Amino acid sequence: MFVGIDLGTSAVKLILVDHLGNLYHSVSKSYPLLMPKTGWTEQNPNDWFNQTLEGLKELIKGFEDHIEGVGFSGQMHGLVLLGDDDVLLRNAILWNDQRTTLEVEQLNQHIGIQTLLKETGNVALTGLTAPKILWVKKHEPDVFRKIRKIMLPKDYLIYKLTGRFVSDTTDMSGTLYFDVKHRQYSSKMLGILGINASQCPEIFESSDIIGTFKPFYKEFFRLHHDVKVICGGGDQSMGAVGVGVVENGQCSISLGTSGVVFVANESFHVDQRHYLQSYCHANGHYMMMGVMLNAGGAHKWWFKQVLEQTDYEAFYQSLSHAKENEHLYFLPYLNGERSPINDPNATGVFIGLKHHHALPDLNRAVIEGITFSLKQSFDLIENIQGHITTIRLTGGGAVNQSWAQLIANIFNRKVERIVVEEGPALGAAITAMVGCGQYQQVADACQQIVRIKDNFDPQAESVTLYKKKYQKFKEIYPQIKDLMLV
Ligand code: XUL
Repeated sequence: MFVGIDLGTSAVKLILVDHLGNLYHSVSKSYPLLMPKTGWTEQNPNDWFNQTLEGLKELIKGFEDHIEGVGFSGQMHGLVLLGDDDVLLRNAILWNDQRTTLEVEQLNQHIGIQTLLKETGNVALTGLTAPKILWVKKHEPDVFRKIRKIMLPKDYLIYKLTGRFVSDTTDMSGTLYFDVKHRQYSSKMLGILGINASQCPEIFESSDIIGTFKPFYKEFFRLHHDVKVICGGGDQSMGAVGVGVVENGQCSISLGTSGVVFVANESFHVDQRHYLQSYCHANGHYMMMGVMLNAGGAHKWWFKQVLEQTDYEAFYQSLSHAKENEHLYFLPYLNGERSPINDPNATGVFIGLKHHHALPDLNRAVIEGITFSLKQSFDLIENIQGHITTIRLTGGGAVNQSWAQLIANIFNRKVERIVVEEGPALGAAITAMVGCGQYQQVADACQQIVRIKDNFDPQAESVTLYKKKYQKFKEIYPQIKDLMLV
């Protein structure tokens, strides 16, 4: 049996599965999100660790003698700093922390976008790890001087449990001091940040075995044999593995608070227009993703904050009372936007309102606006990487049929939903299976484990109509973006 551990932002989720992905047990343990200032997000790595210890013990109780391997997935980009004697120097600064606008500017303007693309395949964004290191260097020089080890969130768990100071290529891709194409550190970027390779973890691929539990934890988990610990990866790659998106041209659309269009590719591609992120994938290949900040979050804002509703079913049913051919549009950029427009000043907008419009029309416009935005990332990736063959839905939005059908119609592609939705934790367990030799390749494991629940074919009439609406939608933002500045 195999364990997948996904260190999320609100909780650590642990699953116990057999080699066919059948779920035996799952446990989730939450921890607080600290917001010491507006726009700052931090967590105490010891909260992650203590909850993981408790969760893992609970998860495998009664199965201790059957566990072969454990794999990890984690929130990406977070900065964990250890000093002498492995003392934690400060709380971790998380992926969604926004304190680094100046450092991002410094990197993109002074170091320059072309240099960043050449060295790492990506440009600076507030969420990434490198600007956080520059922030600590400037604002907390005492902390910076004491740094002995720089880690990503899941790597802290691995280090504490095994004593191995390691990371993997998928997670390291989100640091901006990693040369994604060559799967190694960028010494130029390390120099720019004022750090050196001895402060950084040894790099592995996701399915590599990196060790076993320290004797103390082996005893704590009541294990009588050495369980293999496998590196795993960043939550986006692990999520894609969990829905079987590993081969050339396969795409997953994940609808959480943010919306991620993730496409696997054998070769490495760079987005010269810098709206997309290019990272290593878990099978030794690459991926490209567009991360939209306002997907499920914009829907939730409309549904909960504006409409003050709780019945999601009624909301989706209301869509059938709204005509598809209304020219009513919603731009969902409530919190600025990353992909596809890369504009922190963008705002939300309704455009085209008329007297005869009622609530169902506005509901439909909201869902359409989010879906059109996702389609823009999809088109950008397809233009760079070539034809996208399949689309699999994951995340909260994946459960709803009406939205799945709308995606099929707007994307003009078949859309699939899968049977077991265990997300990144399943991806992490799959890397453990491959590491333990149960499967040769990640793709072989996915073929055995990931099963399609249902699919949605594009409906010709709606496809034609949405093609026109999509063109119009794309014209709106460029024409009004200056009005969004306050
Ligand atoms: C990816 C990203 C998030 C985090 C948190 O770029 O910022 O997916 O990994 O889950």
